Amino acid sequence: KIKDNFQFILFGGTGDLAHNKIMPAFYNMLKKDILPETFTIIATGRRYDSQREYLAEIKKSLSSNIKLDKRIWQLLAANIEYFELNFKDEADFLALKKILKQKSAGKTIHNRLFYLATAPGFFAEIAENLKKFNLLNLGFEDRDSKLVIEKPFGSDLDSAQQLNKSLSNIFSEKNIFRIDHYLGKEMIQNIMVIRLSNPIFRALWNKDYIDNIQIYLNESEGVKNRGKYYDDTGVVKDMIQNHMLQILSLITMEEPDDLSSQEISRKKVEVFKELAEINLDNFDDHIVRAQYTGSKKDGQEIKSYREENSIPDNSMTSTFIALKLFLNNQRWQDVPIYIKSGKRLAKKEAAIAVEFNDDFHQSYLKEKGSESNLLLIKIQPEEGISLQFNTRKPGSINRIVPVQMEFCHSCEQLFNSPESYEVLIHDMIVGDKTLFTSWEEVYYSWKFIDKFMQKCEEENINLHHYPALSQGPKAADELLADDERQWWDKKLK
Ligand code: BG6
Repeated sequence: KIKDNFQFILFGGTGDLAHNKIMPAFYNMLKKDILPETFTIIATGRRYDSQREYLAEIKKSLSSNIKLDKRIWQLLAANIEYFELNFKDEADFLALKKILKQKSAGKTIHNRLFYLATAPGFFAEIAENLKKFNLLNLGFEDRDSKLVIEKPFGSDLDSAQQLNKSLSNIFSEKNIFRIDHYLGKEMIQNIMVIRLSNPIFRALWNKDYIDNIQIYLNESEGVKNRGKYYDDTGVVKDMIQNHMLQILSLITMEEPDDLSSQEISRKKVEVFKELAEINLDNFDDHIVRAQYTGSKKDGQEIKSYREENSIPDNSMTSTFIALKLFLNNQRWQDVPIYIKSGKRLAKKEAAIAVEFNDDFHQSYLKEKGSESNLLLIKIQPEEGISLQFNTRKPGSINRIVPVQMEFCHSCEQLFNSPESYEVLIHDMIVGDKTLFTSWEEVYYSWKFIDKFMQKCEEENINLHHYPALSQGPKAADELLADDERQWWDKKLK
């Protein structure tokens, strides 16, 4: 259990993230008895006029998703203090300081976290004010405050470097927690366990036995009310630079010598470095980018991307991307890694498919029906693992049939997977950085993405189209068909 008297100062306390992720996470953690009864959340923002109004709004959003337990809600509400703050106003920081002072008086504060869930343009300014007004170690002299920041960490390598420079003048790397919420998902945390604790996979985790790896993060939602952000960002910076590359690094990294967060990050960084060095000459036929067009479902018109709120009607932003990548190292030489992600696809589904090589199968076995082994790590909405292997077809004369052995992670003892924010908030409070991205990871991932974006621009890579709520552009299927392969999300349909 987490020690009492921690202080959690939330900038952007009235935003969507606070309503939909952060406060629900605190509520659930209280319910699961992971939190002490006394702690302080100071939620800052400008949207509401009073503590009463703020709590009423938070209660409303919590109740829209769960049946509120009155006792737990009261516990949570008693620990929240709403504070109206303008990031630009120095007087507001002084007033915040006063509140922190009051809240700290006569107590031993074990932890202080400043959580920035604001527009990224404010990150550096807020951090500077925290230092300037001495909020970092007020009543907390022998300890370090922590800084938690939401994505995006910069919009390219330059801006990420600038931001890092400003923040690292104030906080040491050890105390900067950069969130990638995918790292808090159960099955992403499971990747290392699956790889390292099972000799049957560990021994085969290389180019000799693995034919290809596929990672897909399909979303069915459109851009909702985030049009402005999304149109400037696009799928590559929104999903690939962070979530996808993080997954890719966990799947392909070398084995860590121990399980410390520094060692794991070191191994991940090696992958990011290799990505940054990938030679992108002749890469155009490894990229499929696309945008969704309007369509009809059950008699209802579905908007095209360009018809969504705040999207210019000549926007060329990609809402879908599929890529074929190769890592130039001993373990993965010549093994294609296919990744794809898109908005407004038919079904929300994220998984990692590791397809084993069937070169060892004699042709007579293939003729009888044997297929390659497949390890499918299902990230969401279903969480679990499926392993495909060959067996004799029951009752047949010498026929072989591939069968799937299924493990449902979230069904285990009616286990209700914690939301990723519960895991992440727990870890940031206790100071475990394993599920957060280090500066080096961010640095090399932007190096790769910058190079990639430049390539797309220079070569004027074609923008394909796909109807909203469809299976995505045909060109993405052809990317694999050219290699005589198929996306596993389609094959398993
Ligand atoms: C966010 C992206 O980081 O991840 C969103 O900005 C995306 O565009 C979201 O929808 C997906 O997260 P999840 O947990 O719903 O798969």
